[in-house]
Amino acid sequence: MAIRNVLKEGDETLRKQSREVTNINERIHTLLDDMAETMYATDGVGLAAPQVGVLRRVIVIDIRDSNGLIELINPVITEQSGYQYGEEGCLSVPGVVAKVERPFEVTVKGLNRSGEEVEYKAVDFLAKAFCHEIDHLNGMLFIDHPHELVEYDDEEEEGEE
Ligand code: NI
Repeated sequence: MAIRNVLKEGDETLRKQSREVTNINERIHTLLDDMAETMYATDGVGLAAPQVGVLRRVIVIDIRDSNGLIELINPVITEQSGYQYGEEGCLSVPGVVAKVERPFEVTVKGLNRSGEEVEYKAVDFLAKAFCHEIDHLNGMLFIDHPHELVEYDDEEEEGEE
């Protein structure tokens, strides 16, 4: 496993569309391992492959709840409902925290590292994390949504994605 460099806003790779994974091979497993290690090393709660320069539809999330580490390949939001308006940050947009509207509840389908179909029904913070990471796969950052910047003067930031 290795910690990978996280690209920052301004890098064109973050603006590109990621491609579906058609073959879950050793490279994808290494990517998942490295993404998780990078997320934990940077104290993040989620990371998408384009953030480490790989234009593949792969995300990892760990909001430190009972789900533990979520690894998802080719994630798709199949249902969403309600809304929430809360703070977000992003490892690729350091120092910026902003309020963004998201669905309160989402159903996300995808593949795990064994290639099995998995489904998550997520609410609240986890739903927000899925939306944020899947946006990255479409070249979108949270600050592209209508948002309200939040001023921070202490270190009690919510986890960055
Ligand atoms: Ni992010």
